[in-house]
Amino acid sequence: MAAKSNSIMDKLISLAKRRGFIFQSSEIYGGINSCYDYGPLGIELKKNIKELWWKSMIYERNDVEGLDASILMHPKVWEASGHVEGFTDPMIDCRVCKSRFRADQIDTSKPCPVCGNRDTFTEARQFNLMFKTFMGPVEEDASVVFLRPETAQGIYVNFHNVREASRRKLPFGIAQIGKAFRNEITPGNFTFRTREFEQMEMQYFVRPEEDEKWFEYWKAARMEWYKRLGLQEQKLRFHEHGPDDLAHYAKKAFDVEYEFPFGWQEIEGIHNRTDFDLRRHMEFSGKDLRYFDDQTKERFVPYVIETSAGCDRILLTALIDAYEEEEERVVLRLDPVIAPFKVAVFPLVKRDGMPELAQKITNDLRGDYRVFYDESGSIGRRYRRQDEAGTPFCVTIDGETLENQTVTIRDRDSMEQIRINISNVRQYLADRLK
Ligand code: GAP
Repeated sequence: MAAKSNSIMDKLISLAKRRGFIFQSSEIYGGINSCYDYGPLGIELKKNIKELWWKSMIYERNDVEGLDASILMHPKVWEASGHVEGFTDPMIDCRVCKSRFRADQIDTSKPCPVCGNRDTFTEARQFNLMFKTFMGPVEEDASVVFLRPETAQGIYVNFHNVREASRRKLPFGIAQIGKAFRNEITPGNFTFRTREFEQMEMQYFVRPEEDEKWFEYWKAARMEWYKRLGLQEQKLRFHEHGPDDLAHYAKKAFDVEYEFPFGWQEIEGIHNRTDFDLRRHMEFSGKDLRYFDDQTKERFVPYVIETSAGCDRILLTALIDAYEEEEERVVLRLDPVIAPFKVAVFPLVKRDGMPELAQKITNDLRGDYRVFYDESGSIGRRYRRQDEAGTPFCVTIDGETLENQTVTIRDRDSMEQIRINISNVRQYLADRLK
């Protein structure tokens, strides 16, 4: 495999823009820091990642329900969750240039890295990472609401609703995909850390005495999912949180980490949140959120094992993991299941009825797959364009097709071509895109 250097990020950012995966938000106005838009290929990739997650959480199991809670919630939710008090980073300002830094990322004995002045730093102050806005026409304290910094709280406050509506017994989970917002002090590394991002979170409610068993179960299940996503196994590992970096709600936490060009970093957190959240919501709402076990006649607050993944971060990981430079081409070796286009169809030349036949094959495949039709430029160039977009298969109609109804199918990774009958194309793809 070709060596991947740190400049891979620059190349990837350029490819992401050129091919329509990711654009800077509001680019024509000079952009806005740390906000990004997903283009035609990016949105397909993101949708496929979310679908794979949803499928593994909901469709392939019988113990997890889905939910889509609103982003804006009652302000008391964030008092109960501990985010008003505890979701803070210590920050230091430069008095001269007004730049703001995370206290743990700045050496105050050195000059300010932005303006170069010495001894200009303030004391560290706690800065809350939640975005505030106002609900209704009056901008006053009483109407302050927050953009949720995690989707999990929408699940906790709906624990009873979902349990009753779906008549669930412990253990069971609730899964949700949705936007979260954090006013990060130091966003960066492209879409790795942004202020608006999407989470894929699942909260699994268990009997308190079974928490460790389920924690181990979900830890293993989530690592398996990353392998299924096609990520290189040697680039994945667990990192356990020590007592000093455990979140305020966690008894135990492991991160799934990936080896990015900028080092090992978290892509998902698996947390034993105990009964912290449900208890706090009971306290703040005055509602009884205990579970009643009709067999043992016990009433208790369930423990929660949380799996919390960042969709944008996983998408970036998938792109980095798939990116490869070869002598003659750049190729994105995305797993076919998440590749934006599954197949491209080309007529070798624009005559002899080849475009018409290629269009027909394209139309036949549409509906099942996102198919790309291309008849412009040399065939080699067309293959290269699809390699760069991560399209796993290219079907080409040539002179022989007109004689014996066979087409070539080219494999993106091996670049090998085989000939098959047109009537077998659908099955060929179905077998490989399961
Ligand atoms: N509910 C628990 C929770 O939110 P977290 O470890 O703070 O836990 C979970 O976040 C995941 O969300 C992270 O592993 C990461 O993938 C994603 N994430 C968190 N902050 C992010 C940010 N600023 N930008 C992009 N993704 C982020």
